Amino acid sequence: MEIKLASEKDCFQIAEIHFKEIKHGFLNQLGKEFLGYFYSAMINSPNAFLIIAEENNSVIGFVSGSTNLKKFCKEFFRKYIFKSFLIFLKKIFSFDIFKKVFETIKYSQKEKKDLPRSELLSIAVIQDFQGRGIARKLLEKFISEMKKKNINSFKVIVGENLIQANKFYQKNGFEFHSKDAVHKDTPSNIYVYKIV
Ligand SMILES: CC(C)(COP(=O)(O)OP(=O)(O)OC[C@H]1O[C@@H](n2cnc3c(N)ncnc32)[C@H](O)[C@@H]1OP(=O)(O)O)[C@@H](O)C(=O)NCCC(=O)NCCS
Repeated sequence: MEIKLASEKDCFQIAEIHFKEIKHGFLNQLGKEFLGYFYSAMINSPNAFLIIAEENNSVIGFVSGSTNLKKFCKEFFRKYIFKSFLIFLKKIFSFDIFKKVFETIKYSQKEKKDLPRSELLSIAVIQDFQGRGIARKLLEKFISEMKKKNINSFKVIVGENLIQANKFYQKNGFEFHSKDAVHKDTPSNIYVYKIV
């Protein structure tokens, strides 16, 4: 198995894994096509990065992060405004999705003073490969990439109902910070990781 920075050719597989494994996430509701654009933008952004675990030329897990979500979101919408608009248009009849898009944009533009700006945005490993320490290895590489960018702490926001994910962060050195709700109906836990 190899842990490395993702390239453009990996976007489709990453989107597939996100779609399958982060089922309850709001980005999922926008579909695989949107996820593909989202991860492609990350690979090409100076404000975000994406790491994959690869086995036999297939992506089996990934972790994504941003050093400045506000800037990354602006870049994303500048580049994909038209494509995203078409996707949003298809979903316009779902008030719930519309509300969540608005809440997410609002969240990405808000910065809490006592929280790091850098963030782990998503992590997932294909179900058959879970429980083998792959996410831990992805996290190690993620931390070393943050270090290279002179970042000394980052946050992660995770739905409190995601038991495995909460357990993973707690066991891997993240400290609980507070509770928040990006989307009003889904309470989340915020953790902070301090790089020593
Ligand atoms: C959260 C998630 C990424 C963890 O992935 P994972 O690869 O199974 O995680 P790890 O294998 O590193 O750790 C999980 C367990 O495997 C154990 N493990 C098994 N073999 C191991 C090995 N060789 N080395 C290290 N740990 C090992 C770990 O100790 C840990 O056990 P524990 O929970 O009892 O402490 C995964 O469950 C997932 O994809 N969930 C769905 C997506 C999601 O909810 N993402 C978070 C929101 S963005």
